[in-house]
Amino acid sequence: MTDNNFYHKEIKRLLKEKNALLLAHCYQDKAIQDLADFVGDSLELARKAARTEASIIVFAGVYFMAETAKILNPDKKVLLPDLSAGCSLADHCQPEEFAGFRARYPGHQVVSYINTSAGIKAISDYVCTSSNAEVVIRSIPEDQPLIFAPDKNLGSYLNKITGRNMILWEGSCIVHEAFSLEKLIQLYQKCPEARIVVHPESEASVLRIAHFIGSTSQIRKYIRESKATSFIIGTEAGIIHQLEREASGKEFIPLPSLEDNSCACSECAFMKLNTVEKLYRCLLDETPEVIIDTTLLEKALLPIRKMLNLSR
Ligand code: 13P
Ligand code: SF4
Repeated sequence: MTDNNFYHKEIKRLLKEKNALLLAHCYQDKAIQDLADFVGDSLELARKAARTEASIIVFAGVYFMAETAKILNPDKKVLLPDLSAGCSLADHCQPEEFAGFRARYPGHQVVSYINTSAGIKAISDYVCTSSNAEVVIRSIPEDQPLIFAPDKNLGSYLNKITGRNMILWEGSCIVHEAFSLEKLIQLYQKCPEARIVVHPESEASVLRIAHFIGSTSQIRKYIRESKATSFIIGTEAGIIHQLEREASGKEFIPLPSLEDNSCACSECAFMKLNTVEKLYRCLLDETPEVIIDTTLLEKALLPIRKMLNLSR
């Protein structure tokens, strides 16, 4: 039996034996996506975590996602194959510094992107994902001044589509901010029938020429339903695995970054820290586990619950 067959078989067996649910983000390695009970975006994964009756949640994604699952399930064991799977957005917005930033804008409420730590969620009024950010923001009275953190690109896109003037924290995603406008234009010139689809964490110059802007699940839906047959993919390349399954016969061209022409450049190194081997060990030993202080957890739960209630 090859290593991959062994891990696949054993992971399936352990999931069943331990009544564990494997949730995976669509930026995960293909082999992990194939093993998952559900593959989705941040909002869909939070919803699945909120509703599960499984005894253990194994989260194949990055830390803030597993942490959100734990906040929604304080009594369940939530495992993450590699606890160091961070996120450039979450890691560069620390609660102490953010509290100082917030204090400079009295009367403002905070909308934080789900790509933040529990510490930031605990001092936020609202949480949103890229799937429901517009709905969440439109639910807030127009005269209420807002701060949006930590993604300045998503924040300025939201300011543009909602007409708000939210104060933005200066954070960005290392994967999406690296997409090259020049290379996008070159690709599009070679393939003008292609539709350009991008995640709103990308820079404004890239968003400006996109045919479709959306979260990973919205991108998948757009491509499934589109009559076009060729797409330039402006998000992490892992999504292509799902696209090839659900929109087979269509062509997917990963958008390169400034650095490189290879597909690997549009990969999130944090997401790829999880491997099938680590997943197997984590299920077998039931570690590493996500642990959160109870007081912090209770505070962080409030804006997450508000978000889930707003966008059912
Ligand atoms: P989605 O919620 O759209 O899947 O985005 C998550 C993410 O980390 C994007 O980089
Ligand atoms: Fe974070 Fe960017 Fe990776 Fe998404 S792709 S998890 S925003 S670093």
